[in-house]
Amino acid sequence: MGEIVREPSINPPPPELPSGDLMFRVAGTADSTWFWKSGQISIDQFNTVLEHVGKRITDFPRALDFGCGCGRIELHLEDVAKNVELHAVDIDSLAINWAVEHIPWARFSQNQGLPPLDFPDEYFDLVFNHSVFTHLDERYQDAWLVELERVTKPGGLLILSVSGGYPFSLFEKNCIDSGHDPQPFREIFRSRGHLFIPDDGMQNSPFPDFYHTTFHAPWYIFERWASIFDIKAYIVRGDLNYQDLLLLQRKDKRVGALPPAADFGYKVTSAKDDVSRLKLSLSECEQGRELWRSVANSSKMQLDNVLNSRSWRVTAPLRGFMSMLRGEGVDTERNP
Ligand SMILES: C[S@@+](CC[C@H](N)C(=O)[O-])C[C@H]1O[C@@H](n2cnc3c(N)ncnc32)[C@H](O)[C@@H]1O
Repeated sequence: MGEIVREPSINPPPPELPSGDLMFRVAGTADSTWFWKSGQISIDQFNTVLEHVGKRITDFPRALDFGCGCGRIELHLEDVAKNVELHAVDIDSLAINWAVEHIPWARFSQNQGLPPLDFPDEYFDLVFNHSVFTHLDERYQDAWLVELERVTKPGGLLILSVSGGYPFSLFEKNCIDSGHDPQPFREIFRSRGHLFIPDDGMQNSPFPDFYHTTFHAPWYIFERWASIFDIKAYIVRGDLNYQDLLLLQRKDKRVGALPPAADFGYKVTSAKDDVSRLKLSLSECEQGRELWRSVANSSKMQLDNVLNSRSWRVTAPLRGFMSMLRGEGVDTERNP
């Protein structure tokens, strides 16, 4: 556990990146430099969490990126895909179409909002993603956890991210700055451990109705998600220095379900009531979209801080050297 920030070597970007709109959908910013560099940093951080079980992303014969968007991560996996059969799925047809055309080393396909995926049982050795469960309510979350369990081999690994205490603290600050009382949100986050905000300003976004903003308290993961997967690591802000990164392992015997939320000690009804009260106050002020953008921007700020830091610049030659040792070529990004 704890915060781990790594500074990987980053190759120059390819001639064509996705459109600003496609980048904004997955990153909350159309900044192509951020989009490109953050993909490599995500992979490096996946490798960091895999160190907990002595592995690297290249150690898995078949892998799936669940909720890949337009391939921010796959763009950097051309070499990895020489040894790993790499699949990637998303509900967003425009994003998938771009990825199919530009990232031939991975096999992209579109899935529906709810399971099933079009893969046999126990097909993958590794499933990973960045920021999908950060947008699902509990019904969708539970359905997808069960489905990801189905397609993962016994003993296989999953790297998933959640918006934990740090993004929630920024969200609270945004509430206060925009004249809202964060207390009811805080109440739900602390007592239920799962806070889903349906009126977050994404109503006019290209995403479907089920896709909104979700925060997870760490204890919720350790109690509820642990009923279906073994938790091998939980790295606070291990994902782009913002979301928490989880390393999970598929149990030998398939569990196939999570405990119903109602049996889990939650006051589901009152929590729902609280959320709808907040929904009203947020839509009245039409601040939701701004809130969402500022949460996304603070994620970008975190990464910018790393990239612009003195230590990043000073360690550039070392990164280049390490990159050469790993046979990845010279790091040409000396001055990001
Ligand atoms: C914040 S974006 C992250 C995209 C990508 N993982 C990345 O890091 O660039 C969340 C992605 O999850 C996808 N998504 C949401 N619900 C999904 C679902 N039920 N199945 C597959 N993808 C989903 C969205 O379409 C979107 O591309």
